[in-house]
Amino acid sequence: MAYEQEISRRKTFAIISHPDAGKTTLTEKLLLFGGQIQSAGAVKSNKITKAATSDFMEIEKQRGISVATSVMSFEYRGKLVNILDTPGHKDFAEDTYRTLSAVDSVILVIDSVKGVEEQTEKLMEVCRMRATPVITFINKMDRDGKDPFDLLDEVEQKLNIHVHPMSWPINSGRDFKGVYLIPSHSLNLFESNKTKKADEFISVAGVNDPQLPELIGERNASKLREDIELIDGVYGELNRRDYLEAHTSPVFFGSGLNNFGVQELLETFLELAPTPVHRPAAERLVEPTEAKFSGFVFKIHANIDPRHRDRIAFLRVCSGKFERNKPYRHVRLGKDLRFANPYTFLARSKEVVEDAYAGDVVGLYDTGNFKIGDTLTEGEMLHFKGIPSFSPEIFKELINLDPLKSKQLEKGIEQLTEEGLAQLFRQEPGNRKYIGTVGELQFEVLQHRLEHEYGAKCRFEPRSIYKACWMGGDEDAIRDFMKFRQNNIAWDKDNNPVYLAETQFTLRMTQDNNPKIQFRTMVEVTEAAQ
Ligand code: G4P
Repeated sequence: MAYEQEISRRKTFAIISHPDAGKTTLTEKLLLFGGQIQSAGAVKSNKITKAATSDFMEIEKQRGISVATSVMSFEYRGKLVNILDTPGHKDFAEDTYRTLSAVDSVILVIDSVKGVEEQTEKLMEVCRMRATPVITFINKMDRDGKDPFDLLDEVEQKLNIHVHPMSWPINSGRDFKGVYLIPSHSLNLFESNKTKKADEFISVAGVNDPQLPELIGERNASKLREDIELIDGVYGELNRRDYLEAHTSPVFFGSGLNNFGVQELLETFLELAPTPVHRPAAERLVEPTEAKFSGFVFKIHANIDPRHRDRIAFLRVCSGKFERNKPYRHVRLGKDLRFANPYTFLARSKEVVEDAYAGDVVGLYDTGNFKIGDTLTEGEMLHFKGIPSFSPEIFKELINLDPLKSKQLEKGIEQLTEEGLAQLFRQEPGNRKYIGTVGELQFEVLQHRLEHEYGAKCRFEPRSIYKACWMGGDEDAIRDFMKFRQNNIAWDKDNNPVYLAETQFTLRMTQDNNPKIQFRTMVEVTEAAQ
């Protein structure tokens, strides 16, 4: 198949949601359509469940399983769909933000009972930063949820995006009758059936079709007429460009658990969603159709077997064709590497691939060459942008409990933070190490892995640090500030200075007192590395 054709049939996306809204269930149903799994329940085992939140060993085990399902690919009607999995657990939110840098669009799942939740807002902020197109799926319509108009308002207000209903629910909960598909004027009637594989659509001649009362009852038909009249008046027709530019999100209503409304979601997604789009590098914009290969690492996953210290680096192909055994330039290290066993995820299990195209993700065995954000090319000096690094929320100091194992501890903490499990800040003098994370869980995971994989013993002492801020702006001002506030300055993994603010108040004061310096709690990884 011609190269352009290969790219134009690819759709690479992620499903995002607040935990429990139904991301895993929806992923599973999409895979059922793609024929990748035969029954529901297959993806579920990958999920970091609520029951496991206090059991980090269980989480590690599940993180291990999730390597195989980090990317799930399937073919549907001639298209090749790559779903990039994002961990639902909020303590691993950083992982999700990084994965979002490797997709071309997202499907956002919202629980109709709970509406827009906190985690969703944060995820959408990241999508907005990159103008990632979003399709919204309002899930759990089989439960008594909020009023659909209220839900649309909530999405617009809280997520700062226009909405465009593509389907419209007829009641919810026990009285849920199904949805009316607005563009195609058809009905999809609901039946609770968790093993159903496809929906059946009934074509009607709009909401004034005389059949309608027979199909859904007089009262429902008249309510639907009113609703659709209002919707037509307010929303008109969807402009695909508004969606692609991330101004407007098409919205579907359904129930993942009942595989209801998923088919129309998938089919519209395949029609509307972008094929692999260009990616910004610090030097220039890289088009997917360029002949030369380029790509970047957005995720690193450790092999959880302690006897094999190797890791898997996940690389998004941005342009050209990636080929097995061909030497590629590791831009940061300035050396050429070749990969004998790269794999993709087209089959149910991972398999070695000969080549991959823009939009694909390949897994590369790594013995310590990669950091998140690294770029591979055919020789050009490119640094892909867009992987965000946020200030951690919790800071603790790493205390070595076994001086004879200092080297192991040093190496372990270096490697584990390169994986993106936590952030490391070093402070001179005294070589103090602060570890920053999003949640408490990572400290348990770190401690356990340092002991079992590196033989190092440590503990973490809480430190009252509110935020780590990267500094930009006037260089002289930054230099003076660093001299003056030495005790609050530390260095990140790329040797960039950060200001460790103790409280929100001191951060505000510091900002006011140093107007020539910008204190930022978010930077792009490439930006930080330069
Ligand atoms: P997540 O990945 O976003 O965290 O959510 P997940 O799919 O695991 O779904 C969270 C819970 O919501 C699950 O119930 C799931 O069965 C349920 N759920 C998902 N979609 C629907 C839906 O359309 N309708 C209803 N009523 N429930 C839905 P659970 O009890 O936590 O898990 P399980 O015991 O059912 O596996």
